[in-house]
Amino acid sequence: MTNILCIGAGYVGGPTMAVIAKHCPQHRIDVVDIDEKKIAAWQSDNLPIYEPGLKEVVLSARGRNLFFSTDINEHISQADIIFVSVNTPTKNFGRGAGKAADLQFWEKTARQIIENSTTSKIVVEKSTLPVRTAEAMERILNSNNRGLFFDVISNPEFLAEGTAIEDMENPDRVLIGGRETPSGQRAVQAIVDIYAKWVPQECIITTNLWSSELSKLVANAFLAQRISSINAIANLCEKTEADISEVAHAVGTDSRVGPDFLRASVGFGGSCFKKDILNLVYLCDHFGLPEVSVYWEQVIKMNEYQMANFVSKMVAAMFNTVAGKRIALFGAAFKANTSDTRESAALSVCRSLLDEHAQVVITDPYALENARADLIDVIEQVIFEPDPYAAAQGAHAIAVLTEWPQYVELDYQSIYDEMIHPSFIFDGRNILNHKKLHNIGFNVYPIGKPPKTHFTR
Ligand code: UDX
Ligand code: UDX
Repeated sequence: MTNILCIGAGYVGGPTMAVIAKHCPQHRIDVVDIDEKKIAAWQSDNLPIYEPGLKEVVLSARGRNLFFSTDINEHISQADIIFVSVNTPTKNFGRGAGKAADLQFWEKTARQIIENSTTSKIVVEKSTLPVRTAEAMERILNSNNRGLFFDVISNPEFLAEGTAIEDMENPDRVLIGGRETPSGQRAVQAIVDIYAKWVPQECIITTNLWSSELSKLVANAFLAQRISSINAIANLCEKTEADISEVAHAVGTDSRVGPDFLRASVGFGGSCFKKDILNLVYLCDHFGLPEVSVYWEQVIKMNEYQMANFVSKMVAAMFNTVAGKRIALFGAAFKANTSDTRESAALSVCRSLLDEHAQVVITDPYALENARADLIDVIEQVIFEPDPYAAAQGAHAIAVLTEWPQYVELDYQSIYDEMIHPSFIFDGRNILNHKKLHNIGFNVYPIGKPPKTHFTR
């Protein structure tokens, strides 16, 4: 039996370890965190995050070979392999503020590992980190004078929220980077052996440490770049009467381009894309590559423009003022099937509308609690309403900001009947039936398509 420990029971650590525990009943998996409330939630029926299929997997392994605890030190001492998935937010102070990764939790964790270890261990970077962080970690971990040796492995996560369990069960690939020394290669093999219990061998890629660390940042940068690219073209579509869905289909059917991640939207969010690209930008600057840095920074700037421009278009359509007007925001989560609101375009739109003195009502099936916490500084100005029908009642406009499938199924005739007329729908996700809405009486503003209005000029 191998004792596997994961430090950090967040969106990454929790689901990842639950799936490993499910497929490796011969190993003991402990997941620890400094946050007592979070650990209590992982031990309860009310898990701290919403993720389809997560509960079933946790319940199948919890108490058998999957355990949650706040006793970090004791579990470090017993572990053979330690995954670290503590958060690495963007640094908001000092050098590199606003771009570089804040590695203080990582370093603190590394020091905690040395202090509580009596045997040599494999330490796995699960958190997304700047390229060459493993080198610093090796130096810190191997600075001990007790003859202990730590192999540092990079095993970045590629989980997308909302499909985390599916992504872990059937990954496109698992990436494992390690040193090319005999000890490093043995450590790589130990991690390969864990995943090989359910992942086909050809989907497990092994590389050197630096390629693995950098590939994670680049994978996210490429995904975000596709969204900014399609959103840039959506703006051009709005000026030319081209239709972004048709353009995306035409372009995406080229097998070299591929159809995925070409959905124009109000903007991408989530804890990773912005943070990881800023990290990449910082690294390029650090290594004296300003042209490369500017190239990637533009992906973020385009996304910020997309969110700001969405609100500009709302205000312009609603006779250049939204002051005092009730506006219902459908969705707070940064994407469907998650309760996560980190960097959500919905919150950015909400704040911009508040700046315009609109009366904002937010509805969401799972993310209202997080939205409340994120908007705590303006909480008096926002109404949080779980029922979309009630949110839209008496509103001038609806803005669809998260692609929750339940928003497609609503009875828009009865919603329209309860709204102020003329009524507006701004579909920031292009999920609704625009023709049908227009026939009901709405003035409909999609992304990257001509609006359908009842105004003659
Ligand atoms: C985090 C990072 O954001 C991401 O860059 C990385 O790829 C993986 O880890 P996520 O799991 O989404 O992703 O973060 P979060 O849900 O905030 O979880 C991190 C957990 O670490 C929190 O529960 C926090 O309490 C815990 N933590 C943090 C510790 O246990 N110890 C610490 O010192 C710091
Ligand atoms: C992302 C990566 O996909 C994952 O591999 C990595 O491990 C973590 O970061 P995540 O942020 O959970 O995952 O969600 P993702 O599905 O990538 O969506 C990110 C954002 O892009 C969401 O706001 C989503 O709505 C938006 N998006 C996605 C679009 O606007 N258009 C698209 O075509 C796809």
